[in-house]
Amino acid sequence: MSDATLFEQVKDEANRVDPYPLFARLRETPVSRQSDGTYVAATHAAITRLLHDPRVSSETLPPADRPKTGNPISDWIVKPIRDRITDTHRPFIFRDPPDHDTLRRAVMHEFTQARVQALRDRSHGLVDEILDKHAGSRSFDIVDDLAYPLPVTIICELLGIPTEDEPQFHGWATQLATALEPDTMADKEARSENSRTFETISDYMTGLIKEKRRHPKDDMLSGLAVAGVQGVPQMGDYDLIATSILMLVAGHETTVNLITNAMLALLRNPDELVRLRDDPARAPRLIEEVQRYDPPVQFRTRRALTDIAIGGVTIPEGADIVLLLASGNRDPAVFTEPDRFDPDRSGVRHLGFGGGLHYCVGAPLARFEAEAALTALARRLRNPRLSADPPPYRPGSALRGPKHLRLAIDGIAPS
Ligand code: HEM
Repeated sequence: MSDATLFEQVKDEANRVDPYPLFARLRETPVSRQSDGTYVAATHAAITRLLHDPRVSSETLPPADRPKTGNPISDWIVKPIRDRITDTHRPFIFRDPPDHDTLRRAVMHEFTQARVQALRDRSHGLVDEILDKHAGSRSFDIVDDLAYPLPVTIICELLGIPTEDEPQFHGWATQLATALEPDTMADKEARSENSRTFETISDYMTGLIKEKRRHPKDDMLSGLAVAGVQGVPQMGDYDLIATSILMLVAGHETTVNLITNAMLALLRNPDELVRLRDDPARAPRLIEEVQRYDPPVQFRTRRALTDIAIGGVTIPEGADIVLLLASGNRDPAVFTEPDRFDPDRSGVRHLGFGGGLHYCVGAPLARFEAEAALTALARRLRNPRLSADPPPYRPGSALRGPKHLRLAIDGIAPS
């Protein structure tokens, strides 16, 4: 009989530094019922099956419930209307087909190769600019100094957010990322805080969308806001707002964590850091191994639309399901010596970008951003040493990563 509190322990901050031994225990039962009635899928096979099962829904968000203001008109007329709009225009990561597919197709249409390639080049330029600013430093925080500013700037440029408005997006991105944590969703005060931020961004985006419709430019938001082309329907304002917010949230903290987790792994395996410095072409395989070994998105949640028999249990209709991607990535049935960081593995079938219908749309961009950051750090940081190992972690268990990764350095080489 497995311990039905194991997933509680995964969420417990005390285990944030190293949840992997808990995952190993969870994998002893491919799908286990936890004491709160949640079903946790922990093996690679079980997770993969559920990711592709149409009886598994992504519509897991609780109904919108904006905080009351005390003003009767707001509370009894405006609030229910706005709550309903929010419920019917969720970001597509939280939607099932057919709506999910229509919205995703529109976004994919705008994720052109030319746009992603341009952002790849831009990422290299931005990383060098950031490092140049720290040229004389004897210390460097991978999180605050590089990993945080890079992705938000890239997403703003992808969407077409004016440069002068970018700083506000940094704060919004950080706040909204907590929406992917199960504990935030269960906490009324945290949800209220999120819905206030959501309102603020929505107001801002409404103005920007109007502007893009009047004067479209070569950016994703303009593309989504103007009339549909090649059978891709034009998005309505509410879906457009939800989609923009999704891009911001899904592409921000995840990429921060990828860059940071990768640097942590490299500093703990200094031979690999030297190998990367001498041969930057190693970056892609290194990034895939980090996505396996220590992935930024550790788990995603789902709901069973009907009874589902799997791995000797039946998940009952309506039950919450946790797909423990980071555990599947350490499954010895699929990976030899899974607890070893080894960028030379071949054919890595990791679950770091999910799988099936909801497979990450931003994966190519995330890979390019991480490549730009890691190759420049390996080349330019002189004699980097970890100031604390383990580093302090942020509270999130679903989006898990260090709060800071402070290094002592002997300087930063010119680009
Ligand atoms: C290292 C960085 C990233 C990681 C680890 C990551 C991981 C993931 C994962 C695991 C999913 C699947 C979610 C699910 O199955 O419920 C996902 C979906 C998604 N990601 Fe990423 N992501 C990253 C970067 C990005 C970037 C840069 C963007 C956009 C600019 C992005 C946009 C999205 C979107 C829109 C979805 C929803 C796809 C859908 O529902 O069809 N992600 N991502």
